[in-house]
Amino acid sequence: MTTECFRKLYRPLSIGLVAASCILAGSAASSAQTKPTPNRQLASPELNARVEALLKKMTLEEKVGQLAQFAAGYATGPGASNLRYDDLVAKGQLGSMLNVVGAEATNHYQHIAMEKTRLRIPILFGQDVIHGHRTTFPIPLAIAASWDPEAAELVARYGAKEARADGIPWVFSPMVDIARDPRWGRIIESAGEDPYLGSAMARAWVKGYQQDDLSKPDSVAVSVKHFAAYGAAIAGRDYNAVEMGEATLRQVYLKPYQAAVEAGAATVMSSFNSINGVPATANPFTLTQILRKEWGFDGFVVSDWGAVSELKNHSIGDGPTVARKALEAGVDMDMEGNLFGTVIADQVRAGKIPEGVVDEAVRRILRVKFALGLFEHPYVEQGPVYDATPERRAAARKVAEETFVLLKNDPVEGVGTILPLTKKAAKVALIGPMADNQKEMLGAWAVTGDPKFAITLKTALSERLGDRLLYAPGCGLLAGEDANVLKAVSFTGGTASAASLPVPDDAKTIEEAVLTAKAADVAILALGEPTDWFEGEAGSRVHLGFTGNQEKLLEAVVGTGKPVILVVLAGRPLELKWAAGHVPAILEAWSPGVEAGHAVADVLFGDVNPSGKLPASFPRAVGQEPLYYAQLPTGRPAHGDLSHMPHNAGEKFMSRYVDEENSALFAFGWGLSYTRFSYTKPTVNRAEVPVREVLASGSKSVVTVGVDVTNTGSVAGTEVVQLYIRNTAASVEQPVRELKGFARVTLAAGETKHVEFPLGFNELSFYNAESKETVEPTTYDIWVGGSSLATSEASVTVVE
Ligand code: BGC
Repeated sequence: MTTECFRKLYRPLSIGLVAASCILAGSAASSAQTKPTPNRQLASPELNARVEALLKKMTLEEKVGQLAQFAAGYATGPGASNLRYDDLVAKGQLGSMLNVVGAEATNHYQHIAMEKTRLRIPILFGQDVIHGHRTTFPIPLAIAASWDPEAAELVARYGAKEARADGIPWVFSPMVDIARDPRWGRIIESAGEDPYLGSAMARAWVKGYQQDDLSKPDSVAVSVKHFAAYGAAIAGRDYNAVEMGEATLRQVYLKPYQAAVEAGAATVMSSFNSINGVPATANPFTLTQILRKEWGFDGFVVSDWGAVSELKNHSIGDGPTVARKALEAGVDMDMEGNLFGTVIADQVRAGKIPEGVVDEAVRRILRVKFALGLFEHPYVEQGPVYDATPERRAAARKVAEETFVLLKNDPVEGVGTILPLTKKAAKVALIGPMADNQKEMLGAWAVTGDPKFAITLKTALSERLGDRLLYAPGCGLLAGEDANVLKAVSFTGGTASAASLPVPDDAKTIEEAVLTAKAADVAILALGEPTDWFEGEAGSRVHLGFTGNQEKLLEAVVGTGKPVILVVLAGRPLELKWAAGHVPAILEAWSPGVEAGHAVADVLFGDVNPSGKLPASFPRAVGQEPLYYAQLPTGRPAHGDLSHMPHNAGEKFMSRYVDEENSALFAFGWGLSYTRFSYTKPTVNRAEVPVREVLASGSKSVVTVGVDVTNTGSVAGTEVVQLYIRNTAASVEQPVRELKGFARVTLAAGETKHVEFPLGFNELSFYNAESKETVEPTTYDIWVGGSSLATSEASVTVVE
């Protein structure tokens, strides 16, 4: 690739980067001869022979029909088309549909495709199955807080089974965008801020959905989204542009997508944002060079909703031009908007687009249809719509319990630590707009989850406490200026739950809540933010506090002097500074899903010991955002090199805020337990390793870090043991800390376990000035502990 062509594809931040990146691009292109085949099914010669045989029979119109996708059910974006879908399918002009759910609806269209079209190519139905399908599990950000990839795999498994039974063999999940700015509402769908944790979760989601075999009757194809770097939207405003150097793109943002592709992801969804001036939906550098040539992706790329047509708004051409650019860049299917369906064929006939480009897109789509076994089994049997088996509910409860993060549990004078509540707790006041709100328990993107199945905190706590539970809603989730949200209609077409809306007189209900708290021995406040409008897609916020009058409610209840437990139910890190300073116990419970109340009660009462750890930093003030632990160093660090440590007020000319600490209020990886854990100093099995050995190691280990972890408390508990490194002498500056290993370790009271972390090329590598992944002679500082603030240190040196 020449410098000139690179400039066109990926506008760099500096001229230096242009030349450098092109070296990489050239070398990667040559390595395409040994292209990896991450999904063996899609690369299989037999499958591809079937694809070729079918492709030969197709007319240009039939081919272009395979590139079109419409939503015939509810809308998950603006400007939904309202077309005669039966006709389009019958004419072979519609290869895929989204948001059509259930055996009856999907079979209806499938019968038309299989009985009325010339070539009988089945329709591929896709849907957002994000944290369960009918059975709603916790939101993905919460699942990341479990630091348990097996939990993600399990959630994906249930989602796959239920979706496939509902006629949906293709899910728009996992969302693996790195999210370092909680102003961005879509952080709820992500695994948070870290590429290592995000990659582990990405692999698990793919495995759970696809099971390494798309043809299984309960497997679904994934769509890894949103490619690429969508989470880095400037200022956290959804759909906004992204500007970033190639090394950061590759080392941080691309890692989880790469992990998902290497795990065999069958499809990828392109994102709405531009990357350094080139829209991701028309970006040959990411869609072709990286995704296909470097990573060997053999599946297809679907655009996000209307994104091909929206390229016009990015000012890169008129309709036909942007359709051509998207197709040639590597987008194969046009989700809603149908520019491909209307303008590609003419351009082929006019000689502007080689028919081979269309053929290639069709090939990729047909591969996935064949691999899913749709030609053999196009229909779905009508089964039970919601299989509310105790087993599924139990799974949802267990996963939720792993996701909760105990942020704080300070002793209260005369009482000790309030959590866990003893079973004999006298009177408990449950207060807040999240306390008895079924819909809010499910969280954003619970598209097919039914709120009526959700267990609220009020239900679960009254099961335990009977009339010892007092309840007051306290206030609405919204108030005053938010009144336009009275019309709150979620973008999935539902209406906001009544309890989300402003209540007529918050001052009065807050006063009632104060009286309720006074009548009890302890108060549990269930507060958060509404899912509709305030979270998820298009849910960007510039204020990260509780919505409406909830903070006032909290202050009023704390003012009673009663011990308060705050349960936060939200899909993003909220600004909890006042609460952290005044409330003794805080449990982050996210959006816990269908078994919300039971799971929260299990943890509050100590039947389950909390073990979650934060997958994203919690700010002291929104002005710190984007705030993440793996910052690059500065020449004037506020406190040693770790500027995420408490700052040193009073020093001038340092990289710090004058009116707030640099550090997170609750750091990445943070989370308490009802027991305590101690760590020995980590050891390495070798102090030095030759660089060539590391370079050759790939995913193998060259050095092992060992540590003993002991449960020093009196109850059993699970600790997420975390390993961080710092490359202290790379040719390009490296983050002050990077997560490179973690393990969930369950320990009985008094028990010790030895934990080992293997480190090799995959953990020690970084992207140099040429954006090439490499390892150089250097020393790595290593920390092992229970959060990104770990202080227990070792080191290993990589020598010539
Ligand atoms: C979202 C995607 C989603 C798609 C289909 C878009 O608005 O950005 O995440 O998969 O709609 O519902």
